[in-house]
Amino acid sequence: MIAHDTETLRDLDRKYVWHPFTQMRDWEADAPIVIARGEGSFLVDTEGNRYLDGVASVWTNVHGHCRPEINRAVKEQVDRLEHSTLLGLAGEQPALLAKRLVDLAPSGLCKVFYSDNGSTAVEIAVKMAFQYQQHRGGRYRDKTRFITFKNAYHGDTLGAVSVGGIDLFHGVFRPLLFPAIQAPSPYCYRCESGGTGTRDCERRCLKELERLMEIHAETTAGLVIEPMMQCAGGMIAQPPGFVKEVRKLCDRYDILMIADEVAVGFGRTGSMFACETEGVTPDLMALSKGLTAGYLPLAATLATREIYDMFLGEYSELKTFFHGHTFTGNPVACAAAIASLDLFEQDELLKGLPDKISCLEEGFRRISFLEHVGETRHIGMIGGIELVRDRETKEPYPWEERIGVRVCLEARKHGLFLRPLGNVIVVFPPLSVSLEEVKYLMDGIEASIRMVTE
Ligand SMILES: Cc1ncc(COP(=O)(O)O)c(C=O)c1O
Repeated sequence: MIAHDTETLRDLDRKYVWHPFTQMRDWEADAPIVIARGEGSFLVDTEGNRYLDGVASVWTNVHGHCRPEINRAVKEQVDRLEHSTLLGLAGEQPALLAKRLVDLAPSGLCKVFYSDNGSTAVEIAVKMAFQYQQHRGGRYRDKTRFITFKNAYHGDTLGAVSVGGIDLFHGVFRPLLFPAIQAPSPYCYRCESGGTGTRDCERRCLKELERLMEIHAETTAGLVIEPMMQCAGGMIAQPPGFVKEVRKLCDRYDILMIADEVAVGFGRTGSMFACETEGVTPDLMALSKGLTAGYLPLAATLATREIYDMFLGEYSELKTFFHGHTFTGNPVACAAAIASLDLFEQDELLKGLPDKISCLEEGFRRISFLEHVGETRHIGMIGGIELVRDRETKEPYPWEERIGVRVCLEARKHGLFLRPLGNVIVVFPPLSVSLEEVKYLMDGIEASIRMVTE
């Protein structure tokens, strides 16, 4: 039951809440939608309006909103234990979940370090990679740097920003960051390496990556990659085989591969993990978002035995990984994650994805013909539609036009909640979405783009 009317809640929000990635002057002048509840693929506002959650609540939702099975698991766990620490104690739920994650993860990842959001999962991987090289000793102690990609996004804490590559978000913080070595983004539509972007492209981006590795191998601890898709950078899909090539290069130059599967993990690319699609085992893997199916904040950094073993020793050797968060391995969040993994099996969710992916692809195909669509990019259940002022020249819309925002506002009239990345319309529905809902989503997006751009 809603205890307050919409206007009261809007007023409270505008008066007291500072929203993420939001120009608050615009926000305060607006009348935001206030979400009251969720039902399957839909969010319902305080006025009873329904919006298909086209961005899966910041890419977290897997089984739809308010799945009774996960609700039950969370409630049962709260009645038994809301939180106890992993500092000095083991816990039932974190132990059970760790085993499930290791069983599902690319083979070779065998230890789970918990935290509570995607940024920390990446920071932990970065710190582990750094400290691993220190423990190796000798000349390996010079391996202190990281290779990252342009357009990468790994979160908003300073370590995660240091390995990010989106100037708009990250530029202002540059003086606070540690320097990283930036490789070109595999952004074929706007290739900066002078490649053709076609099937027979000679992959100059990979050649440049190798060149950087050759120069910096002796001082580089690790490489951080969003496998298959740079999401926040604009849904930039990597060409097939890219991740595999990166793995080979990391091996050749003795650089640890950190896969940030915070966005693409848990079924998004069609298999449980993107690395699995490419037959790759990273040295470290960061997970969050879909881990609890969007229920509660939880993250995990998975490591190989080789990395883990390097931290073992006498206490006096100070090989301990001195890192931890208050809510590390929170049992309620772990219970939600276990219930989500059960639902993957019970609903045979991955088996059902190919039909949904085909339906999404059909929508993207239609949309790709629109006059102001430069490119549609999609892998599995993730997609992006890049809007351009001129298809021929690929001239982008100037950012001041906020074309993406305008399309997403229009989409609300079609019962959709969307959030753009600049000029890119993001398509990221809950994995449990039905075929009818996929069609509803893509039809609404097409109509909204037509309305705003034609
Ligand atoms: C690939 C990737 N890594 C890390 C993060 C950061 O996660 P969080 O917002 O939970 O800190 C995100 C968030 O969108 C992401 O997409």
